[in-house]
Amino acid sequence: MNKEIKNAVDTCQRAQRNYNLEKLIPNDDLNTLIYAATNSPSKQNEVHYSLHVFTDQEKIKEIYNTTKRFLLMRGDADINKTFGVDETGEFWQDVDISVTNSQILSNVLFVYVREEGSARGGTHISAQIHRESDAMTIYNQQIGFSIGISVGELILSAALLGYKTGICSAFDPEAVRNILKVSNKPLLMVGVGYENENVDRRLHAELLNKDVPNIFRTGNLEDPWKFPSFEKQIEVKINGN
Ligand SMILES: Cc1cc2nc3c(=O)[nH]c(=O)nc-3n(C[C@H](O)[C@H](O)[C@H](O)COP(=O)(O)O)c2cc1C
Repeated sequence: MNKEIKNAVDTCQRAQRNYNLEKLIPNDDLNTLIYAATNSPSKQNEVHYSLHVFTDQEKIKEIYNTTKRFLLMRGDADINKTFGVDETGEFWQDVDISVTNSQILSNVLFVYVREEGSARGGTHISAQIHRESDAMTIYNQQIGFSIGISVGELILSAALLGYKTGICSAFDPEAVRNILKVSNKPLLMVGVGYENENVDRRLHAELLNKDVPNIFRTGNLEDPWKFPSFEKQIEVKINGN
């Protein structure tokens, strides 16, 4: 059991960049995943998001087309020409060196949309009234916690069921809002699906090396472009040591 959980943790830490879309996820599994994503804890069980689930490949493709926001970066890049914040405070990035996030071109796609359900905590009630206050900062943090915990339970459950997953926060929220026909802001997306056996999980589902500038190519021109992989080390102290 411990080993099974650790394996699932290792699986869902990673982003699956291509899926076998020939297969269909059984309804039983889909229901369990939706259950996991909607029954995770939130402070005082407040509602902080709605969940939009897609299995329709046309719709998923439409949403995926809003994700050309994975910025190709090199250590020697001139960051002032690559990304920044304009005079209006809006973040921008160089779209010519950005690629789509194919971890959501998946068998099933989960989109988390921010919601402000009935507030129970004092700070949250205040935030709903005083929109530009410190209370809103706390409320926003809670909404982020709730979505994060839900995504954690979702991807761990998916991994335990044998699926691969990929999370995406880099997309055009306005475009996704229009596709979903919702009034609130979509914040996070999660692709879940079947891996392509014997295919490197990091290979982009669509993009070839010839589609990216020379310096970012990862192999032959006609071969799929390969995403980088990131590592981290979290400091843990047990009883202060
Ligand atoms: C909240 C959150 C947002 C993420 N957004 C993106 C994203 O927009 N694009 C992306 O490529 N990966 C995204 N990821 C996936 C992580 O980059 C990935 O899990 C991590 O780098 C380790 O996997 P790797 O080996 O594939 O890099 C996100 C992960 C989390 C938890």
